[in-house]
Amino acid sequence: MDLRRVRPPDRDDASDPELMTRIRDEIRRDGPITFARFMEIALYDPARGYYRSRVARPGRAGDYLTAPEAHPIFGRAIAPFARAVHDAIGSPEPLTIREFGAGEGALAEPLVTALASRRIRYLVAEVEPARVESVRARLLATHSDIEVVADDGRAIDGLAIANEVLDALPTHRVVQRRDRLREILVGLAADGEELIDAEGDPSTPALADRLQDEAVALRDGQLAEVCLAVDAWVATAAAGLASGVLLIVDYGHAASELYGERRQAGTLATYQGHRVGDDPYRAVGHQDITAHVDVTAVERAATGAGLDHLGTTTQSAFLDALGLGNLLVAEQTAPGATLQGYLEARSAVVRMIDPAAMGGFPVMAFGRGLPPGITLDGLLERVGAADS
Ligand SMILES: C[S@@+](CC[C@H](N)C(=O)[O-])C[C@H]1O[C@@H](n2cnc3c(N)ncnc32)[C@H](O)[C@@H]1O
Repeated sequence: MDLRRVRPPDRDDASDPELMTRIRDEIRRDGPITFARFMEIALYDPARGYYRSRVARPGRAGDYLTAPEAHPIFGRAIAPFARAVHDAIGSPEPLTIREFGAGEGALAEPLVTALASRRIRYLVAEVEPARVESVRARLLATHSDIEVVADDGRAIDGLAIANEVLDALPTHRVVQRRDRLREILVGLAADGEELIDAEGDPSTPALADRLQDEAVALRDGQLAEVCLAVDAWVATAAAGLASGVLLIVDYGHAASELYGERRQAGTLATYQGHRVGDDPYRAVGHQDITAHVDVTAVERAATGAGLDHLGTTTQSAFLDALGLGNLLVAEQTAPGATLQGYLEARSAVVRMIDPAAMGGFPVMAFGRGLPPGITLDGLLERVGAADS
């Protein structure tokens, strides 16, 4: 998701009335709530949350286009990495892949197809059970010998993947006021209806602690998001990996850059109908709300949970090392290839590797139980910005 911030001219501002009632009631009862709590309700409320809708969120007909949704070549490109992980852990049968936030299976299907020579168990970790069924149906339609199951959190020997999942974890928002850190909470305007930013004391010392641990000093007036939820998410993902690799791809930066001079206003953004916005209080329940991922926090959480940091690189370098170029050539030369199909693939690949678009996304890999000194394809180049 890398569009310019523009205010949609014909936007549908209407929020889900039930979600708004829930949010307002909680604020009336408890006072202003944290932005993380607001996000939890807006995105994850079991009945009405944005990610709990049966409507497909990513995709051309949805709100944003992820790399797997842009073209199946992305999933295909990951296959050599999955093979390398499987080989590194001694090729246990079947090859187990856990995908967090698998969406509609746009990554799963081409990945599994490209791994045709191996028996596969695919664990779908989704907040929305309907999407687990979508992925299962999609995979079983083309692969009769595959096992597709809703994730039960079991510890696996295999590969765990999360593409564009962490950016949607509920995040806190803070602002620096001279030498004081303040939190941006969600309150009600004088009319008792409209949601507004409400500045208050931090709801938890963990916010200042996180910034201090990362040696971050915000400037006066600087806004920032601090996603404390990443720690628990990574801890759970790590606990679910007996041996193998956890691969995380998302937009984000090392803390020094994420909280640096260039990002005075933070990175919070909303997505609806392929348009980027900056007002999280409109279209509640109907638009995505995201913030860039703190790569340093993810790396620390993963190593803190006992995983080895295998490397952090860019999506562009990762895909290039895995042979994306050859896959694109195959789009032109494979039996049945068409010029139209090739041009579509090429345009998607350009977005996937463009450093100003998805190509700059950090790819983080963490391992457990791998042979000492092993270098997995795709991880040779380390992102400079993530070195801190
Ligand atoms: C931005 S979409 C990405 C979908 C897919 N990975 C892709 O790249 O096209 C985020 C997906 O993650 C799911 N999701 C969000 N938070 C999650 C969480 N904490 N655990 C598992 N799935 C989650 C959503 O339901 C949604 O399908």
